[in-house]
Amino acid sequence: PRKVKNICCIGAGHVGGSTCAVIASNNPDVVVTVVDLNVERIKAWNSEELPIYEPGLLKLVQQARDGARPNLFFSKNMGSAIFEADLIFVCVNTPTKQTGLGAGQALELDYLQAAIKRIAEVAQNDKIIVEKSTVPCRTAETIQGIFSASGRRGVRFTVLSNPEFLAAGTAVADLLHPDRVLIGRSKTPDGYAAAAALADVYAAWIPRDRIVTINLFSSELAKLSANALLAQRISSINSLSAICEATGADIDEVSYACGLDTRIGPSMLKASVGFGGSCFRKDVLSLCYLAESLDLPEVAAYWKGVIDMNEYQKDRFTTNIVSCLGHSLAKKLAVLGFTYKKDTNDTRESAAISIVSNLTAKGASVSIYDPRAKMDQVWRDIDTYVSVSGSAYEACMDAQAVIILTEWDEFSNKPLGGALENAQRSSDNSSGHPSGASDLTGGDASKKSKLDWAFVAKIMCPPKYVFDGRNVVDAGKLTELGFHVECIGKPSMS
Ligand code: NAD
Ligand code: UDX
Repeated sequence: PRKVKNICCIGAGHVGGSTCAVIASNNPDVVVTVVDLNVERIKAWNSEELPIYEPGLLKLVQQARDGARPNLFFSKNMGSAIFEADLIFVCVNTPTKQTGLGAGQALELDYLQAAIKRIAEVAQNDKIIVEKSTVPCRTAETIQGIFSASGRRGVRFTVLSNPEFLAAGTAVADLLHPDRVLIGRSKTPDGYAAAAALADVYAAWIPRDRIVTINLFSSELAKLSANALLAQRISSINSLSAICEATGADIDEVSYACGLDTRIGPSMLKASVGFGGSCFRKDVLSLCYLAESLDLPEVAAYWKGVIDMNEYQKDRFTTNIVSCLGHSLAKKLAVLGFTYKKDTNDTRESAAISIVSNLTAKGASVSIYDPRAKMDQVWRDIDTYVSVSGSAYEACMDAQAVIILTEWDEFSNKPLGGALENAQRSSDNSSGHPSGASDLTGGDASKKSKLDWAFVAKIMCPPKYVFDGRNVVDAGKLTELGFHVECIGKPSMS
């Protein structure tokens, strides 16, 4: 196959920026240019304060962007980047549609179509077009249709699917050591050649046996399926957490015992206040929509259950807070953690958004602390007034209850070690590579010192509840400090 020398990536978001940093740093002879309609984002990628927080990412970007032979560029000039590229990643956002046919369920493909139309206008030579965005099954056909309709003669566009499996917070580690790289191609000479050219780019750092090539539509569907299966595990364990609370069983022990079965495995089995993030909800809903449009209502209803269970889990958690605190919600509540998981500044679809909104709607006065979420982002996410604190202690001062909504390490009072604890930590790490992000962070600022719970007990006021939505605290130890503790899927402790 023709060797790829020049790559353009349309979309400088979480996936486009991180993926291209890793591709560029492992392919020093390939020029990688990331473009975006949002010029502020491009400016930030060219600065020392990247638009997204990912452990290890800044260092990697700096090496490829600012070194003696830079090969990673963030540019406003989309036209020339497309013109010069022989391979183009399309990495734009595909959120849930807000209006029109399929609103609230189907994926919005307008951004993707705009990017494809731009490529069709600008291209003068053959291009490999790589769907990196998560898309419904058969989108490659739609893309090929846009190219055909554009009436360009003498330019061949070969469409590949190459979905991304990285998770936020471990993006660099996931990209450096992926379980697999998936390439979908049509079974045509052009399809085979394009897939081989893309595989060569990844083979610069990924063993060949991890680069898997399959049919185009299978690859598109595999991405939606993988996210649906991962989300389903969390909803399954969360459904069992409700049974634990009603019976006195302990969900962390149930999860540990089940995860020891190699057919089940320990990851994505950590009970929580509910999954968040920009992908799970929208991708499961997209699968439901696909099933409905294929006239498979039973299939749609089956996957919809995963979303319903997640909503139930968030509601259950809020209801328990209200029932424990009775009618005194107006006395201050401290919320620790606002991002949808640790080691990210991303708050999209965070369980914290609905829980805090529900509490404030019931008259609660809430003070939020998160080590990474930006204050203005929290205020954009919550319609009613909440105070945002600069430290956990400020948030907890004079609060009657602490509500933990993100599993940031600094909130935990558990020591490392012990089979159960280690198993739970490895199940937190969806990437499955135990060194994970911690190796990459070095002296990272996220490694803050642990919360001094004895001090928290002193500065709070009665009844001193801890509602732990992530099971990060050792409830026994906190009761010794005078707290009432409510965890997910465990007996109440006082
Ligand atoms: P994002 O919102 O962080 O970034 C998308 C970027 O694309 C934005 O900066 C936006 O301005 C830009 N954009 C939109 N339309 C454009 C156009 N026509 N031309 C140029 N730029 C345009 O999104 P993301 O989180 O990086 O996700 C991108 C895709 O990858 C989505 O389909 C998502 O489902 C998928 N994905 C995301 C993750 C994740 O962890 N975030 C993981 C795997 C897959
Ligand atoms: C997810 C997929 O893991 C990734 O492969 C895909 O490419 C994008 O979507 P992400 O949303 O970034 O990644 O993080 P993930 O680690 O999957 O967590 C998603 C949500 O589930 C978070 O809110 C997390 O706290 C929650 N979660 C995860 C649990 O509640 N329990 C678990 O065991 C694991």
